[in-house]
Amino acid sequence: MPIFNFQDNEALGKVASVDTTNVVIDVENVELLKRLQVNRLVVLQSSRPGQHLIGLITQVTRKRALVDVIGDGINDSSSELNLCRITLIGTLLDRYGAKENVFRRTLETVPEIDANCFALEGDNLTGFMRTLSSIAADGNALTLGKYTLDEHAVAYLNGNKFFQRHAFIGGSTGAGKSWTVAKIIEQMAVLPTVNAIVFDLHGEYSPLVGDGIQQLKVAGPADIDAKRSLDDDVLYLPYWLLSYEALVSLFVDRSDQNAPNQAMIMAREINAAKRKYLEDGGHADVLAHFTVDSPVPFNLNELLQKLNEINIEMVPGARTEKQGEYFGKLARMISRLENKISDRRLGFLFSGGKDVIDFSWLEKLTSRILGSSTENGKAGIKIIDFSEVPSDVLPLIVSLVARVAFSVQQWTPSALRHPVALLCDEAHLYLPQRSMADSADDVSIDIFERIAKEGRKYGVSLIVISQRPSEVNKTVLSQCSNFVSMRLTNAEDQGVIKKLLPDSLGGFSEILPTLDTGEALVVGDASLLPSRIRIDEPRNRPNSGTVDFWDQWQSPVKDKRLYKAVDNWRKQNIN
Ligand SMILES: Nc1ncnc2c1ncn2[C@@H]1O[C@H](COP(=O)(O)OP(=O)(O)O)[C@@H](O)[C@H]1O
Ligand SMILES: [Mg+2]
Repeated sequence: MPIFNFQDNEALGKVASVDTTNVVIDVENVELLKRLQVNRLVVLQSSRPGQHLIGLITQVTRKRALVDVIGDGINDSSSELNLCRITLIGTLLDRYGAKENVFRRTLETVPEIDANCFALEGDNLTGFMRTLSSIAADGNALTLGKYTLDEHAVAYLNGNKFFQRHAFIGGSTGAGKSWTVAKIIEQMAVLPTVNAIVFDLHGEYSPLVGDGIQQLKVAGPADIDAKRSLDDDVLYLPYWLLSYEALVSLFVDRSDQNAPNQAMIMAREINAAKRKYLEDGGHADVLAHFTVDSPVPFNLNELLQKLNEINIEMVPGARTEKQGEYFGKLARMISRLENKISDRRLGFLFSGGKDVIDFSWLEKLTSRILGSSTENGKAGIKIIDFSEVPSDVLPLIVSLVARVAFSVQQWTPSALRHPVALLCDEAHLYLPQRSMADSADDVSIDIFERIAKEGRKYGVSLIVISQRPSEVNKTVLSQCSNFVSMRLTNAEDQGVIKKLLPDSLGGFSEILPTLDTGEALVVGDASLLPSRIRIDEPRNRPNSGTVDFWDQWQSPVKDKRLYKAVDNWRKQNIN
């Protein structure tokens, strides 16, 4: 049964002009015009039987025509120009092969002048939205919620397409991004060999538990004191995994006049230290090809000792000994290094003990963060809590995990590859716009830009989530093919989303500031239609970052809270 049943006399108007996908309708029925709203759907008669074109209203105008002032006293005040501008978005076919009522994003025909145009509402709308729902995204259904246009119609996305070419989830704080992410995670978790890493910066996703989900935490000072390890779901990310660039940005102050020398010595000595590690361990096969960036452990104390020697080295002079070439030039780098090593908050880098400099440790780490449940019995979605990582090194550390994931994918023979998604919450914090000056963020940006550009080849998908689209790296954003845009109040941020939407949908973005909490505009190749969707509540809700000040100021304060805070602060321990 065809779902549309329009009578000619219900038409809202006729096609007045067609310009590829943009169509102008001359609206004859003024009563109907009043009901028309931007972003609602319309149906156009097609020249082919059994087909209807579907359009999105982008503009509605009602003007008095200019004719009433022209010439010889004719004053036709009733002459009005009622127009409705629409963008064509697809075709509904009554029959396609063996299937009935199939919606396709392609335009099989263009409308003819004077073709009838109908508003899509009531039963026709319900029927259409149901049709969209039942298409179920070719059996790869990912559901976020229901269409705002019809609350009974489930909005399905194509799960393959959603992850294939990166997605962006944006919205002002409190718009519902984290709940949307939780909803996505919930559905991913059902897939038996799902593989994903969630960068959880505030421990917000800790309530997400259950089959398919694994909670991990980057070691904080208390974890290190208690000697908690990977067996306790505590993650160490040892210094030797950092790339050379990352180590330099951590230890060398670029404003130091000796910075180039320090970086050069650092490269040379790390190379030597890694070589020594490989020689001592008898790893001749690795030795043949390794570089300073190879994931090979090295002894940090020995490196430090060596740097100290170079810093005070005396060499034979003409008559007496004289200062070596780098005498005193490494002093600041050495003290930086020493400070970092003894910084309790950086224990996850430097205080992992003997285990983490064992040659086999990298396999254990990758098995935990990139394994699927069928490989190691641990769940495939790893929510990694970075809440105890100091903010100044956050980009380095988050990107370190991303780099491990990308490298593993890259070095997996293609026949053995298993895709992985990286869900990057609060992405503006570690995936910012590139600044002109060299900065520590560059290391992180380099890695994520690389993944954005090449990830698809190696089965790495990015889901970038941010409350500040305007502060997120543009190269990464421009590689995203799917957008879940929630309420956005800031004009600059709206502008970014507007630019990313296809031109024809420019007007669609006008509703961004008015979206309800938990409502989203979903645009991209994973969605049959650019749609406004009310996101379903996830079963397990993320911790809300929302503090109810007014309520809390009416409740009793907790005992000893200040004493506890000061004590923790001194001990650098939250307990
Ligand atoms: N889909 C939804 N349905 C109903 N309420 C929601 C939905 N999404 C979010 N909310 C409400 O909004 C609050 C903030 O959502 P959250 O996802 O934490 O926002 P964000 O991550 O964008 O800052 C939640 O605590 C919840 O009360
Ligand atoms: Mg959030």
